[in-house]
Amino acid sequence: MLKALLEPKSIAVIGASRTPGKIGYVILKNIMNYGYKGKIYPINPNANEILGLKAYPSVLSVPEEVDVAVIAIPAQEVPKAIEECGKKGVKVAVVISSGFSEVGNVELEEKIVKIAREHGVRILGPNIFGYAYTHLNINATFGPLEIEKGNIALISQSGALGIALMGWTIMNEIGLSALFSVGNMADIDVAELSELLADDPNTKVIAIYLEGVKSGRGREFVEKMSKVTMKKPVVVIKAGRTSRGMKAVASHTGSLAGSDALYDAAFKQSGIIRASTVEEMFDIARAFAQQPLPRGENTIIITNGGGVGVLATDAAELSGVKLIEPSQNLINAFKQTMPWFGSPRNPVDLTGQAVVDNYIKALKVAVESPEIDNIVILYCRTAILDPRDLAKAIVEFYEENKVNKATVISFVGGQDTYDAMKYLNRHNLPSYPSPERAVNALSKMIWYKKFVEHKTRK
Ligand code: COA
Repeated sequence: MLKALLEPKSIAVIGASRTPGKIGYVILKNIMNYGYKGKIYPINPNANEILGLKAYPSVLSVPEEVDVAVIAIPAQEVPKAIEECGKKGVKVAVVISSGFSEVGNVELEEKIVKIAREHGVRILGPNIFGYAYTHLNINATFGPLEIEKGNIALISQSGALGIALMGWTIMNEIGLSALFSVGNMADIDVAELSELLADDPNTKVIAIYLEGVKSGRGREFVEKMSKVTMKKPVVVIKAGRTSRGMKAVASHTGSLAGSDALYDAAFKQSGIIRASTVEEMFDIARAFAQQPLPRGENTIIITNGGGVGVLATDAAELSGVKLIEPSQNLINAFKQTMPWFGSPRNPVDLTGQAVVDNYIKALKVAVESPEIDNIVILYCRTAILDPRDLAKAIVEFYEENKVNKATVISFVGGQDTYDAMKYLNRHNLPSYPSPERAVNALSKMIWYKKFVEHKTRK
């Protein structure tokens, strides 16, 4: 049933508007302009045609089947629309409209859920900005049109923040497979969507902005999410850490904020990775989306600067990333990749004199060595080596050699290092402006790998 969201043959927009700027207009326009290839039916009793498409007075008057209906009409009219969706055989109603439990209108919300259950319709929302599934070119939101395509699925319990994050992911070239606004979660909740995405071949990692789980559904959340994390990594940013934050959550989505420690324990038990900031959530999600899972814990750092090497070493120690002590053989091999005053241990310091050739030779040694599972590549801007040249050479090396050791990168410097990192990111090499962020992302991948292994062995 829910699967219809990821494979609809047709979408109706109930409340598709003729008026530019209205929510029902923007949603219809986004669905059309993002390139959805299925049938699109605008529903509006006051119009014959909207944006060049034939409009129907009711979903019941559509001649063919309707899989998903996006509803953007005033709240009091939603029950009737859901009933008509039920009669029509619509599988999921995506209810954009506000004015339900979030403003104390609990009865109206219960009413739409009751009607939906009677007719076998599932409800996403109400009080949401819509949903997107980029592999079918579905953008049924009133957010920005051009969502970057990729394999991170994002679920947001906050509408406004979700829309803002859409813009943020576009700016930072973070590719999404799916995007769900869940709003009041009257019916479909975060756990159920995660289950859906766990089986979606286009999603590699699930990122969630969570305010809280509905009261009485904590145990169910842990049970469902424990199964989800065995299939896909899940990264959550849980708002309401502090007591004031919890109060803010309670008045925002009405979710049971619960004690933060309780959530922390529930996440650990379920294998969910917790991020502290939005930035960290995407740092981690990007690493999972772009890289293979670590084969093991043994990690090497390759750098041209002692300082960043030390920062990365500290970050690794603090986050439990195991830095290997290279064998004499490996030390000898690394020695061949650097000037005599470099350091062939861990971090492997190619020195400030390093050029592309030094990095590629050192990478070759690291990739071929059975002692090494994961690689951290660091670079500090020097006038000797243009970061864009290094980025190109690294991409070429990884692609040519089909490297399958988990790798994270940090380039530190100005605008050209930033451009170089964009290039690396576009080529599936997760790159960060500080060594700590790179190592942190790797540490979460290693933690997750160990969690899954441990659970599988049980
Ligand atoms: N079936 C189909 N179409 C209907 C309808 C019905 N039962 N009732 C009205 N319409 C049509 C209207 O004629 C109008 O089209 P038009 O502009 O061409 O005349 C369109 O649907 C929209 O109806 P309107 O009454 O103008 O509503 P609106 O656009 O002012 O507001 C919502 C509708 C849903 C946007 C508004 O009620 C709302 O909830 N806004 C908040 C949404 C939100 O923020 N969600 C959470 C985001 S995080």
